[in-house]
Amino acid sequence: MKALLYNMTPEQMVYVDKWNKEHPDDDLETTDDYLNAKTVEQAKGFDVASVMQVEDIDEEAVYQKLAEYGITHLALRSVGYNIINWDYVHKYNLLITNTPAYSPRAVAENALTSAMFLLRKWGKIFKNEQNLNFVREADLMSDEIYNKTVGIIGVGRIGSATAEIFHALGAKVIGNDLIENPANEAFLTYTDFDTVIKNADILTLHTPLDPSIVDMIGAKQFKEMKDSAILINQARGPLVNTQDLIEALKKHEIAGAGLDVLTEENDFFMHKFTSMDQLPKTYQELAKMDNVVVTPHSAYYTKTSVKNMIEHSMTDAKRVINGQKPVYPVEL
Ligand code: COI
Repeated sequence: MKALLYNMTPEQMVYVDKWNKEHPDDDLETTDDYLNAKTVEQAKGFDVASVMQVEDIDEEAVYQKLAEYGITHLALRSVGYNIINWDYVHKYNLLITNTPAYSPRAVAENALTSAMFLLRKWGKIFKNEQNLNFVREADLMSDEIYNKTVGIIGVGRIGSATAEIFHALGAKVIGNDLIENPANEAFLTYTDFDTVIKNADILTLHTPLDPSIVDMIGAKQFKEMKDSAILINQARGPLVNTQDLIEALKKHEIAGAGLDVLTEENDFFMHKFTSMDQLPKTYQELAKMDNVVVTPHSAYYTKTSVKNMIEHSMTDAKRVINGQKPVYPVEL
């Protein structure tokens, strides 16, 4: 098998080298480029292309050229598949696989970390400390997780892992999904979307991004949420309307937000800046708030995930070349 892996980084490279060593018949080659109409030509001569990117692949030329080069499989090294243009996938008869099991715990634990940071008001505490203020002020008083209701929107692999963790800590967990998995009923109670929004003390989003649920959390939902609620988004930025979130935080319609993803993230995540005014206006607003914690789309970023992204995607690539069914096909 000859595979070209786009979006390569040094920490993934360790597992690419390992794969090449353990599979002498395979040749995994890498580029740090994103896959787009300009870079697709690099895939000529390979059997399979693989990406791990948050930038949409929406130029028809990408799909057309992959087909021209005889590439029938694009292996995503990600859980999310919203970057794909499905009209072109169907038109050029391409197989898409993803890696949904690389580590649901990685994202779930980051959701927990953000939630606990906000629940225990560490943003405020850190800010006070930076101002040399060590007074235990009244607004630092917090609450305990086992007294809280955690609402989960999207109870797939990651949502289930999140439910299991919060349940283990004694929280009441409620969830909403189109598909209800009876196995999850050990840690959560399924209910409708509005009930989750209205009752959650911690509302955490774990759905795939689909055009029909862009702005799923906006002005209306913020008004319905408890004033004391914390919103956690570790899924995809466009699920939350950022401007409405800023307004809701300013009006104290909710109490805090933990964001690993933002609609505007491609403008600044994975880059370094020298001054705040180089950043998007929405981020500038959020950064002023001590009840907001932003992580740079790093919820997934653990040793287990990085290793499994390579291993799961390349295992499927090899299965497809050998005429077997992939383990993780994405079929829309
Ligand atoms: C995903 O796996 O869907 C992620 O969000 C990780 C990202 C680096 C592509």
